[in-house]
Amino acid sequence: MILEIVQYGHPVLRERCKPVTQVDDALRQLAADMLETMYDANGVGLAAPQIGQAIRLAVVDVSHDPDCISFLKVAGRDAPLASIMPLVFINPELEFTGPKERDAEGCLSIRDVRAEVSRPVSLRAILPQLDGSTLEIETDGLLARAIQHETDHLNGVLFIDRVSPAAKIALKRKLRRLMAED
Ligand code: NI
Repeated sequence: MILEIVQYGHPVLRERCKPVTQVDDALRQLAADMLETMYDANGVGLAAPQIGQAIRLAVVDVSHDPDCISFLKVAGRDAPLASIMPLVFINPELEFTGPKERDAEGCLSIRDVRAEVSRPVSLRAILPQLDGSTLEIETDGLLARAIQHETDHLNGVLFIDRVSPAAKIALKRKLRRLMAED
């Protein structure tokens, strides 16, 4: 089922989401619906607060571009990107391992806004899975960026919070207009 994506200005996007403590059929269905919603909107990631649920659950799929990362290790071993896509995770823990790099980002909850965001290029992520297992990955590129963007959502942080002060001024009018629409 395609869910409605909450838009900028809605308070749920600013909540610090609660850890997922129990995985049941309803949660599995929610994750499946989030993937469907993300694909329908041509996004590469979606976090639960974006569909109005303040819980630490997110989905990512960057498999449209196998060259969007330069490496991927799963549990310390080289692995193909497709082997972990689509990615569904709860309660992520991130550790940054590289210098920061700027790249353009957008967000399904902030229509028509793109901006350069500076983030660590690589990371190690502990990503608990719905089946009770834990996925431990090291990667970079768009996958590292998407995991950071979605994990930010779980903490009530939006990519526009991380743009440079000059870029923020440039975005101000557009954001105020989006806020007024909702
Ligand atoms: Ni987003």
